[in-house]
Amino acid sequence: MKARVLSGVQPSGQLHLGNYLGALKNWAEIQSDYESIFCIVDLHAITVYQDPQELTSKIRETAALFIAAGIDPKESSIVVQSSVSGHAELAWMLTCVTPLGWLNRMTQFKAKAEKQATVGAGLLQYPVLMAADILVYQAKIVPVGEDQSQHLELARDIAQRFNSMYGATFIMPETRLPAVGARIMGLDDPTTKMSKSATGANHAIALLDEPGVIRKKIARATTDSEPAVDPENMGPGVANLLTIAHACDPSVTKSVVAGMRYGDFKKLVAEAVISRLKPIQQKYREITADAGYIDSVLVEGQQRVLPIAEDTIKKVKTAMGLYVARR
Ligand code: AMP
Ligand code: TRP
Repeated sequence: MKARVLSGVQPSGQLHLGNYLGALKNWAEIQSDYESIFCIVDLHAITVYQDPQELTSKIRETAALFIAAGIDPKESSIVVQSSVSGHAELAWMLTCVTPLGWLNRMTQFKAKAEKQATVGAGLLQYPVLMAADILVYQAKIVPVGEDQSQHLELARDIAQRFNSMYGATFIMPETRLPAVGARIMGLDDPTTKMSKSATGANHAIALLDEPGVIRKKIARATTDSEPAVDPENMGPGVANLLTIAHACDPSVTKSVVAGMRYGDFKKLVAEAVISRLKPIQQKYREITADAGYIDSVLVEGQQRVLPIAEDTIKKVKTAMGLYVARR
């Protein structure tokens, strides 16, 4: 039997190159080696306010981008988190075994909480729900970008604590980072990671950006005051651009760009990104032209994974002594 893979992306903001290189690209590459489940984590998105109409359309848009990026819905299950109630149900049970101190230590919580006028309790619970996403399917491998490493350690800690309190129930999930692109930085500020919530117009390359926009954003990307690429002494901006280009086109390496003036180097980076995104954008347009297609994929995904989640919930309820109907 193939080991199970699980990962997720929030349907908030615009999916960007960091999401693609850190997550989606690797999902597509490994999907056939595993039994893969890829989630659109709408319950995570609402840990900060989302406009309801926008969220509804983002969920389908994110699913279409999964497929456009190479996830094959026949091979992998594409699932909306809230369509399988086991995620939220298990999250509650895990909440009850998670010490508050563990959650207070999460760096992403601290960073996000700082930006909110009032912090919803859901924002603190966020990593418990993430642990539930993984454990409800007994997933073995979790391919993510580096920013999720701390959340995954917590997921293992929660699983272990549950197992020691109630008996062996969960298998330990492993973090799988991509070899290149685990942490793509913002184009406008190479010291902060590229993220959906940053507001700068030049911060991120969206997966659906037109070639002209991509060229402009990369041309304006922050570098340093050197005139040309010195592979032995690259500033963070130049290093980030090279990582992006290499992840998009492996033939772009240090030795290829050595000595290139920044103007020419940026053109090379932009073309590598544009050619990588072109087929994704084309596929996205094809998929979204068929109004019913995404909904059928999401129903199929849900139906495929429901029994797995139900089975885990039953095991957890039994382990904890909760009510399970006898029939
Ligand atoms: P999110 O945008 O927070 O829903 O992230 C979805 C996936 O993309 C997760 O696996 C993240 O680790 C990954 N990811 C997000 N931002 C980046 C980035 N700047 N570099 C690499 N991976 C990222
Ligand atoms: N928290 C992740 C992020 O924002 C998304 C996510 C939710 C996830 N549940 C998950 C990733 C389970 C891997 C496994 O990047």
